[in-house]
Amino acid sequence: MNEVEKIELSKKVKTDIDYWLKKFPETQRQSALLAALHIVQDAHNGYLTPPLMEAIAAYIGIPAIAVLEVASFYMMYDLKPTGKHKLYVCTNIACQLRGADEIMHHLEKKLKVKPGETTQDGRFTLKEFECLGACTGAPMMQINKDYYENLTPEKVDKILVSLVES
Ligand code: FES
Repeated sequence: MNEVEKIELSKKVKTDIDYWLKKFPETQRQSALLAALHIVQDAHNGYLTPPLMEAIAAYIGIPAIAVLEVASFYMMYDLKPTGKHKLYVCTNIACQLRGADEIMHHLEKKLKVKPGETTQDGRFTLKEFECLGACTGAPMMQINKDYYENLTPEKVDKILVSLVES
């Protein structure tokens, strides 16, 4: 990573990261990295900037490049601004067999975006995702932290309306 502006993590964020750090031996502090990335992302408008990743690295005590490697590898982390609501549509096998493609196409048409894009009003970011572990409720999507299962295009419409009104 290039030289970046330094920022300090908030006390609350540090306390939340400490909760995870305590679960691992002192020599394995990097094991708390996934949780730390979630905590910091949630506390900073849903995405991770280079200064935030530097701050995580400094707090955990690992190289900044290790943080960037993990944050850029997993789809649940965002390195650029996203919409207020992140829609993670599972397109893995169980969901695909039960209509995930129809759900994804419906969302693309309705929101006028492709997977990975954010609506013009900044309200929604659409994402294609691997199995989210709720196969019995296929087809499904995760929105922010909540799961929505047994989706139909009609159900999706109702969910979108409820999010617009929230
Ligand atoms: S395949 Fe979609 S949740 Fe498992």
